[in-house]
Amino acid sequence: MAPVKVTKICCSGPTCAVIALKCPHITVTIVDLNQARVDAWNSPDFKLPIYEPGLEEVVREARGRNLFFSTDVDKGILEADLIFVSVNTPTKKSGVGAGFAADLNYVELATRRIAQVATSSKIVVEKSTVPCRTAESMRTILEANSKPNCHFDILSNPEFLAEGTAITDLFAPDRVLIGSLQTPEGISACASLTEVYANWVPKDRILNVGLWSSELSKLAANAMLAQRISSINALSAICEATGANIDEVAHAIGYDTRIGPKFLKASVGFGGSCFQKDILNLVYLSESLHLPEVAAYWRQVVEMNEHQKRRFSKRVVDTMFNTITGKRIAVLGFAFKADTGDTRESAAITLIRDFQSEKAYVNVYDPQVVEEQIWTDLAEASPLVPEEQIKKQVRICKSAMEACRDAEAVVIATEWKEFNEINWEEVYQSMNKPAFVFDGRLLVDAEKLRNIGFKVVTIGRP
Ligand code: UGA
Repeated sequence: MAPVKVTKICCSGPTCAVIALKCPHITVTIVDLNQARVDAWNSPDFKLPIYEPGLEEVVREARGRNLFFSTDVDKGILEADLIFVSVNTPTKKSGVGAGFAADLNYVELATRRIAQVATSSKIVVEKSTVPCRTAESMRTILEANSKPNCHFDILSNPEFLAEGTAITDLFAPDRVLIGSLQTPEGISACASLTEVYANWVPKDRILNVGLWSSELSKLAANAMLAQRISSINALSAICEATGANIDEVAHAIGYDTRIGPKFLKASVGFGGSCFQKDILNLVYLSESLHLPEVAAYWRQVVEMNEHQKRRFSKRVVDTMFNTITGKRIAVLGFAFKADTGDTRESAAITLIRDFQSEKAYVNVYDPQVVEEQIWTDLAEASPLVPEEQIKKQVRICKSAMEACRDAEAVVIATEWKEFNEINWEEVYQSMNKPAFVFDGRLLVDAEKLRNIGFKVVTIGRP
């Protein structure tokens, strides 16, 4: 069976912007129901709806050439040979599996829409992170609702890019994973998508596997990455208690090529929209498969992460003479990591909530996160605290300098490079004494800061 030559793709997000850039012969339409987001993608001054280094350059080159943004979802579906389903799959908040399982409502709605609208055969690619065997449900929905002569092939093509490095990850991916049914039709659909990526990704980095392996590999990769962070964070607690230095330990173990040096940076806890969600998903899957020990094993990675955040807040309070009531704390960074404006599951949210409940005053500064987002996250984190109370205790600042003025302590919650380049002498002069720095990201030169006069507390050091 000859693979379909893909000439039109319908999809969403940075991946497809990069496909458009690298494949000028393919028309790529990014469709989204949200008018404001589409307007932002189309904005004449390139004020894009997400902050991602390098994305603007990609959109500048491809937009209007072979990259289009639209709210006309049906037209996108009708015209495309290949459709990426890239919708949200958040953790369910209620019903069966609440708190663990992925909410597949948007996947189902998108799938039904494709079946309803399509008048010709399509390749449908599951891009969202989904529980194992979701592709099967998609196939059943498509087959049950399709028009005569419309045939759908389902592929799984999970996303492995990380926020902040999305464009470089997409330009030179470690691998592209495509899962398909091992039938002639499935293999042929897989070849069509492989051809698209082969425009810039070496063929030996495009891995073709079965559908279920592909779906599970996505959850497994995130679980293994998060597990490394929880492992190093667990060791950071031992370092603090023994006098070992977690950076030295990470360096020493990372030299073993079987372990490797990446993802061994101790921190105040991992955040982001993926790690926690995907592990909880894996936990739910394990429980559904009657594998309670397996579920408990993975759940511990998330529990360790919660423990790390609590431990850090407690260390701040303990160090500041067991009370931070009425004290002003500057929190530098609100995003879940540097180079993104994304705040989902950010450790900063938990820390600020803890400081608020200790009745401290908090000044927050982040170079990318918009003010409205900070208020929304803080309100969600403390649903029982009235908004006026939160706004009395928290102030959002326009610079690190402003946040630190008159504070008793600085807490580094995100590893933004600019926090390293602050004029720390000036910060010291403007703070109340003793002036503390709590480095939750192993970012600053602790010795240099101590020489200025700061009392410095660092994760994973006594
Ligand atoms: C993660 C994965 O790295 C991607 O491969 C995956 O595609 C993505 O999830 C996804 O499923 O969409 P992302 O959440 O964007 O990407 O960010 P990471 O760079 O993985 O960082 C996650 C969290 O771990 C951040 O809070 C970061 O600060 C923290 N981290 C990371 C550490 O605390 N220590 C480290 O050594 C590395």
